[in-house]
Amino acid sequence: MSTLTSPLIAPVAPISDREFRDFQELIYREAGIHLSAIKKALLTGRLAKRMRELQMKRFQDYYAFVTADRSGDELVILLDAITTNETHFFREPRQFDYLEQVVYPEWQRAAESGQRQRRLRIWSAACSTGEEPYSLSMSLLSNFAPEQGWSVDILASDLSTKVLDRARAGVWPLKRADNIPRHLLKRYMLQGSGLQEGKMKAGPEVRLPLEFQRINLNEDSYPVRGGLDAIFCRNVLIYFDTESRTRVINRLLDLLSPDGLLFLGHAESLTGLNDRVRALAPAIYCLRDRPTPGATR
Ligand SMILES: C[S@@+](CC[C@H](N)C(=O)[O-])C[C@H]1O[C@@H](n2cnc3c(N)ncnc32)[C@H](O)[C@@H]1O
Repeated sequence: MSTLTSPLIAPVAPISDREFRDFQELIYREAGIHLSAIKKALLTGRLAKRMRELQMKRFQDYYAFVTADRSGDELVILLDAITTNETHFFREPRQFDYLEQVVYPEWQRAAESGQRQRRLRIWSAACSTGEEPYSLSMSLLSNFAPEQGWSVDILASDLSTKVLDRARAGVWPLKRADNIPRHLLKRYMLQGSGLQEGKMKAGPEVRLPLEFQRINLNEDSYPVRGGLDAIFCRNVLIYFDTESRTRVINRLLDLLSPDGLLFLGHAESLTGLNDRVRALAPAIYCLRDRPTPGATR
């Protein structure tokens, strides 16, 4: 029997406007995520689950509990509960095509002519359960082989510790493999058998470039070394309002190398929002004065 309808557990009381506002403000302050009034049902549904675990019936009690917890652990749990983690492998395939057709040849030519080192540093800044950084790892490794002197480092971060744990584990149901190009699937993923039947696991080669860390994009600064070749910050800024979105974008741009690239989700255009960038392709940006690839610096 579902706990929601259990006759033994008292239901959580409905959320008042005041209680909703308190959570709205707390979540905006901590994560930059703006929950509009239409998200009330979503918020209450997700928090009620946690409140039942804690045997709490009133939202104001849970709010007091979260804000009194000095360790910050309950805040992490609250933010874990309200984030939307939808993702898949090779999401927005046209951006991966752009990498293969335009960006990779530029990086390769620059290395051959001694204009850049054979080292790539990439950040997947809201990586959810890992499909994005593992897609990048497969795509990059198959084009920039360590045997040819390339080294690839990918930082994969998210606000939610729950999704980061899953990303670190690198295990998914086999049906998630549908969007992975066959040759990459064969080369980099391991198919489960026995107890792992129906699952796939990232192989050791594709894990090697990845480092996972919890990073809140709403913080004033990020613990990331600058000079990045590309930052993927896709399908997260839609949850931010214009003000926090602008702040995040500026902090990300500060971390790009002069010819680095910023990849956003397709619903996250920067048109009219930031004059430090210019668009190279849909939702792919570079710094306005990016040197033309191939030009001598
Ligand atoms: C819809 S998923 C996008 C995943 C992936 N980038 C993609 O495009 O498929 C959004 C992710 O953003 C994360 N997120 C939300 N607010 C965040 C914040 N303030 N800092 C870092 N990550 C955040 C969520 O936990 C969630 O995993």
